[in-house]
Amino acid sequence: MKILVINGPNINMLGIREPGIYGNDNYKTLMEKIHNWAEELECQVECFQSNHEGAIVDKIQEAYGVFDGIVINPAAYTHTSVAILDALKSVGIPAVEVHISDVTKREDFRQVSFAGMACEEHIIGKGLEGYHLAMQYLCNK
Ligand code: DQA
Repeated sequence: MKILVINGPNINMLGIREPGIYGNDNYKTLMEKIHNWAEELECQVECFQSNHEGAIVDKIQEAYGVFDGIVINPAAYTHTSVAILDALKSVGIPAVEVHISDVTKREDFRQVSFAGMACEEHIIGKGLEGYHLAMQYLCNK
């Protein structure tokens, strides 16, 4: 099992950005945790972060035929990007949506998830552990 973990804009600012919402752990810690979870689950993992919508679309397209599963936190693009939704649908790779915060209890504009419409599982508001749960879901498939 080869998993691609994609993080959208400002996820690289973890630990600095709004710690009351996203916690104190930084992006480096998230990467370390993801690599440890991959070892535990005996799967391969690659992580990708971008602030650019097109770069995320490119990465999803490049995943075709290479990765067996995608864990994606599209961050703000969750709520705006039909392009990311279409890219996920184009490649048809099983995908899990992750949000660190509980977007269901936040602003109205966060209540729609375009990317989520192409995901088979949604892990919301579980902090960094959400990535672990998403990886477990894909590995147990
Ligand atoms: C987020 C939630 C989004 O609404 C927000 O724009 C983010 C992070 C989360 O992980 O909780 O950047 O995806």
